[in-house]
Amino acid sequence: MATAEFPESAGTGPQRTPSGTLWRAVSIALRAPSIFNTQPWRWHLRSGSVWLWADRTRQMTHIDPEGRLLIVSCGVALQHAACALAAIGHRPDTQRWPDPDRPDLLARLTAGPVREPTPDDIRALHAILSRRTDRRPSARDTPLATFHLNALRGAVEAHGVHLHVVRDEQLPVLAAATAQAEQIEFADPELRDDLDRWTHRDAIDRDGITPEQVVPAVSRRIPQRTFLPDREAHLEPGDGSDRSASYAILFTDGDDRRAWLTAGEALSSLLIEAAQRDVSVNPMSSAVEVPATRAQLAELLCHVGHPVLTLRLSPAGGKLPRSPRRAATDAIET
Ligand SMILES: Cc1cc2nc3c(=O)[nH]c(=O)nc-3n(C[C@H](O)[C@H](O)[C@H](O)COP(=O)(O)O)c2cc1C
Repeated sequence: MATAEFPESAGTGPQRTPSGTLWRAVSIALRAPSIFNTQPWRWHLRSGSVWLWADRTRQMTHIDPEGRLLIVSCGVALQHAACALAAIGHRPDTQRWPDPDRPDLLARLTAGPVREPTPDDIRALHAILSRRTDRRPSARDTPLATFHLNALRGAVEAHGVHLHVVRDEQLPVLAAATAQAEQIEFADPELRDDLDRWTHRDAIDRDGITPEQVVPAVSRRIPQRTFLPDREAHLEPGDGSDRSASYAILFTDGDDRRAWLTAGEALSSLLIEAAQRDVSVNPMSSAVEVPATRAQLAELLCHVGHPVLTLRLSPAGGKLPRSPRRAATDAIET
């Protein structure tokens, strides 16, 4: 049987109970990226299944009033958990929205029959554990090859979600929308409160954005979000200019909670594919957070779908530190 290394946290749960397998899978899924590293999920282990709940106490209520980015983040965690389960050696069985009366109960994941993990399953597990959000400007001169972009598009299309690679002549619109979104957010005290809450966390919280994850401002074609206007960013940006970075818009046919959860699952698959191809991905959500700039992105898509997230894609740079995560015992209830 193919083997995989599991993170320490994956070994601290009730390994010898029937729920042990699910505990391990979910512990691995805690590495999922999330909006401002809010980790807006709660997992409940229940007789042979694990339930995924949206944790509304972790919602950015002004930036993300409908919970779109919260549910997208939960969708990534859900697909990460299913992939981890496959790598542990069980067929994952995912039921979305199992109870219409409880809209925050997003999914139930069950460990199906034992089955040999494939080399792809093991590679996906390694990708989940090694992936990081890279905010450093790319130092490469050459853009990503089209076959990489096609593979990323294929990964999301497998979920019925779409990826539009922004054309050169569309970049000024994306740049203007991104800059305008940031201005609007900084000018609004309620939006600023949301940003402050998730960028000024105590280390003991093990969430939010830390200075170690963020680079100082550098000039780029598409501006990077200013996470820490009042503090020093600690991540060394290097001497890249980001000129060769590609930008893409993840978009869906519908614009409801089902579409957002599926978009998150598709994003998980894209991230796994990208990590295996040494492609670094920086999700950029500011332009979708503000209704006016979100409408500009929809226009870039010629209104064929609903924008969910902008992604900066570039050849991977060097190693990055791990961002914090809550302990498995905080996020998983038994
Ligand atoms: C829905 C969503 C929106 C995000 N928006 C941004 C963003 O606007 N800018 C950014 O630099 N990172 C963004 N991220 C990345 C998160 O900040 C990142 O996943 C989190 O801090 C954890 O770090 P990691 O991905 O390195 O594990 C987003 C991630 C998700 C899932």
